[in-house]
Amino acid sequence: MATVPPAERRRLLSETPFFAAFPEAQRDALAGRLAERSHADGDTIFLRGDEGTSLMIVASGRVALRLTSPQGREILLAILEPGEIFGEMSLLDGRGRSADAVAFGPCRLLSLERRDVLPVLRESPEACIRLLDLLTNRLRRTSDQLEGVALLNLPSRLARLLLTLSEAHGARSPRGEVLLPLALSQRDLGQLIGASREKVNLQLGRWAAEGLLRREEGAVVICETEALADIADAGTP
Ligand code: CMP
Repeated sequence: MATVPPAERRRLLSETPFFAAFPEAQRDALAGRLAERSHADGDTIFLRGDEGTSLMIVASGRVALRLTSPQGREILLAILEPGEIFGEMSLLDGRGRSADAVAFGPCRLLSLERRDVLPVLRESPEACIRLLDLLTNRLRRTSDQLEGVALLNLPSRLARLLLTLSEAHGARSPRGEVLLPLALSQRDLGQLIGASREKVNLQLGRWAAEGLLRREEGAVVICETEALADIADAGTP
């Protein structure tokens, strides 16, 4: 585990949305405690059930959080982007890790230990509120995912996912089309919505034939955003 040069530590934390809202004094205290490590694509960062005493920040690259059944079936809970944090649950409750974390491409992580974070939370209501905000957002997203898998049909789930990804990563052209670069494979998309790669492929093919979208190398171009939104809302099987 490498140590981050002091000048960089403060900048890194102030650029992390979660820590940006912390009072400066507390943020600077934490900055002095940051450690850094790098992972290659596919590396296991930790597994569900592992003992966990640290909170991680994605400094670059992406991290997949997932659950794996004993039979090897997987549910992708989230793919985290730079600036997002994970590992806060074990840090708070002292229990084992609640999900696997795997490097989704090469990534660089910063970490903070429980013994350094808990005193800050005890002292700072602002820091606690920030953490509660993060946890409620995750709970909302998980409820949406659960609703999708239990109550919505596949076209609605896939339409919702594409629209959510477009909001975060899409670029709108003057013609009103949305270019969505897709770092996710069809298998990854399927895991996020509880569907097989084949069904995702089939549905994207249908929408392409109907002119709702175009498939390009490493991207999807959404031509009819409104129509996709109608499908996302229409929903139940
Ligand atoms: P922790 O339990 O320490 O390790 C696994 C991490 O995955 C967990 O902390 C959270 O940061 C994250 N995590 C667990 N469940 C979810 C979820 N449903 N949605 C998003 N992130 C999650």
